[in-house]
Amino acid sequence: MKSVVIEQPNQLTLAERPLPQPAAGEVRVKVKLAGICGSDSHIYRGHNPFAKYPRVIGHEFYGLIDAVGEGISAERVGERVVVDPVISCGHCYPCSVGKPNVCTELVVLGVHRDGGFSEYVTVPARNAWAVPAAIPDEHAVMIEPFTIAANVTGQVNPTENDIALIYGAGPMGLTTLQALKNVYNVQQVIVADRIEDRLAMAQRNGADWVINNSQQPLAEALAEKGIKPTLIIDAACHPSILQEAIALASLAARIVIMGFSSEPCQIIQQGITGKELSIFSSRLNAGKFPVVIDWLARALIDPTKLVTHKFDYQHVTDAIELFEKDQRHCCKVLLTFN
Ligand code: NAI
Ligand code: MN
Ligand code: ZN
Repeated sequence: MKSVVIEQPNQLTLAERPLPQPAAGEVRVKVKLAGICGSDSHIYRGHNPFAKYPRVIGHEFYGLIDAVGEGISAERVGERVVVDPVISCGHCYPCSVGKPNVCTELVVLGVHRDGGFSEYVTVPARNAWAVPAAIPDEHAVMIEPFTIAANVTGQVNPTENDIALIYGAGPMGLTTLQALKNVYNVQQVIVADRIEDRLAMAQRNGADWVINNSQQPLAEALAEKGIKPTLIIDAACHPSILQEAIALASLAARIVIMGFSSEPCQIIQQGITGKELSIFSSRLNAGKFPVVIDWLARALIDPTKLVTHKFDYQHVTDAIELFEKDQRHCCKVLLTFN
């Protein structure tokens, strides 16, 4: 079989590898579609501190079970599945409090263990979630990015009366936008970005108001309308944003951060305690695959609004380069495997 292997930073090969055999408790997935994410590019470029090389990248993928290991019913062969990349131990402290996404033994497919940019991949059977027949392939491959939004929104119980502000109209901002508008029915969702094309995309994904904060400071744009957001999601993740979000937030607001910057940011206690703000973080997803499968089954979200490009996996280098260079026209880029 062919696999997309990052041999070492900046060295990608389409390697011929032996067909993997599913171990006990595992299934083998014949991959049909996969999505390119910023973290794939970071591993490719050597910017992911968790990655070990050589590595088959890819943690957003969909396919068919074509073999099962010991202890797994052969009836699963042929099942359409989407794979949760989060592998956890099930008994450590984080696992015991419902946060397997930060398990002490955390293994993420495509990061710590070979992932889905491959004709075949073996995964724990419990990570392979059956996709109902009514959900098309191109929706199924987008489940993982929406689980991030499910995790983010799940931290804060959004209500219809929230005034939400999302920083960033990339895949993470847009999945969160769709969740807030269509799952939680938040009446007012504002999206800020510095790229006009991305803001246009936010409008197509349901934003009530978009702001180009490279042209006008957010504080000014919001003050003109007398708006103080009650819920702020940082899906742009620049270290300066938390400080600004604290200043913009209403009293008793919630803020969710999801960035991995190692740069310090300056925040002031009074800004937080004076408003009794709640600050949450969100990493990967904690068991959100069934949640998003349900959203799709109920047609609450529309993943195709994020998909801008599709490439055969053999052109993966072109696909990643386009994804990295053209944020104006690219959002989610998919790879097809035939
Ligand atoms: P992306 O790079 O496609 O989108 C980020 C967007 O934010 C861009 O459109 C950019 O123009 C905009 N932006 C940058 N600085 C801004 C600012 N100061 N104000 C407003 N907009 C600004 O990235 P993607 O894939 O949407 O991911 C967003 C972030 O989320 C990344 O930093 C990534 O590392 C993080 N992430 C976190 C995850 C988690 O589980 N915690 C999972 C996936 C991504
Ligand atoms: Mn991803
Ligand atoms: Zn654990």
